[in-house]
Amino acid sequence: MRGAFIYRLWVALTWHERYDSRGAPESVTGEANMAVTFAVVGPGRAGRALAAELQRSGWRLVGVLGRNPRRTAQAAAQLQPEGQAQLLTEWSAIRRAAQVVFLATPDAQLARVAHELASDQDREGSIHGAGPVVLHLSGATPSTVLAPLRDLGCAVGALHPLQTLADPGATLRGITWGVEGDVEAVAWADRVVQLLNGTALPVEAAAKPLYHAAAAVASNYLAVLIDLAAELLAAAGIPRQQGVRALLPLIQGAVANVQRLGLPAALTGPVERGDLPTVQTHLVAFSDYGVRPQLVALYRLLGIEAVRLALEKGSIDRDTARVLAECLTGHGSET
Ligand SMILES: NC(=O)c1ccc[n+]([C@@H]2O[C@H](COP(=O)([O-])OP(=O)(O)OC[C@H]3O[C@@H](n4cnc5c(N)ncnc54)[C@H](OP(=O)(O)O)[C@@H]3O)[C@@H](O)[C@H]2O)c1
Repeated sequence: MRGAFIYRLWVALTWHERYDSRGAPESVTGEANMAVTFAVVGPGRAGRALAAELQRSGWRLVGVLGRNPRRTAQAAAQLQPEGQAQLLTEWSAIRRAAQVVFLATPDAQLARVAHELASDQDREGSIHGAGPVVLHLSGATPSTVLAPLRDLGCAVGALHPLQTLADPGATLRGITWGVEGDVEAVAWADRVVQLLNGTALPVEAAAKPLYHAAAAVASNYLAVLIDLAAELLAAAGIPRQQGVRALLPLIQGAVANVQRLGLPAALTGPVERGDLPTVQTHLVAFSDYGVRPQLVALYRLLGIEAVRLALEKGSIDRDTARVLAECLTGHGSET
């Protein structure tokens, strides 16, 4: 009780100071990081991962707001800082206590949540014409989705972690973040990126779906690609999970090569070597083993892209590229 009282007193005493500093995030950086207060709306995988990372970096989590009361209470208990006041779970209190609020709900909920939070705030009357800085974590959605909160004086933006977060324990250090929004919100987003040793990547609001599609191709579809490679191994009699395990060092090696050499230099393999007979044996084996036509079609498409990359790398000449492309499109000799 005493802790809660001291906390409320602290909130009241530092109120003006914190809102005065909102427009100048640098004034709360460096040693003053301890003073930055934040809250998370949508304590799922991304929200909890970010909250934990910011807490480890010295920011103070003051509130958690979710949809399902039981899951919200669980998340709050997990994130509850030791020896600090109980986390706030009401927007009316959160918006007063937090300098920065991260909206980590699913993309489809952002417009609704922004509207609901703004309605709550509006009913109570806005504070000094301002509210906390609000940043959502979606890569595909522009920050304009938060317009109802901006209308009430909140600076709004988006801070998208370019990382796959399969669970709330995922690390967010050293990654790239897609950033977009109001000048003041972007300044705060940059502050978060800096704090977590990351790299900020400014993204045009209109191009965000394209930016997000790139993330999906590189991350989600890599998982799909691994699954398809495992399917080929399964056709060769190697069980799926064993196949995935066997492929992992190869995949890590390929990623390390891209990191070390860049593209197109990192490309290796039969297409890169101009090895037509090997590509032909692949296609024959697909037919012999009854590999799914969709998988064969994808092999062919990606093979044609590999021809383009090999040509760019200079590892094959134009004639070899043409013969390989004809084989892969099915317009040339496949055997
Ligand atoms: N996971 C990733 O790999 C990843 C990576 C980069 C960016 N992001 C972005 O992060 C955001 C969240 O994704 P996620 O993967 O963390 O999703 P998630 O694990 O499904 O978590 C979403 C959270 O939002 C809550 N929520 C849903 N509707 C709500 C509402 N109306 N009000 C308050 N809370 C609500 C959910 O509560 P319930 O449990 O009650 O449903 C849950 O706690 C998305 O914008 C996503 O694009 C995710």
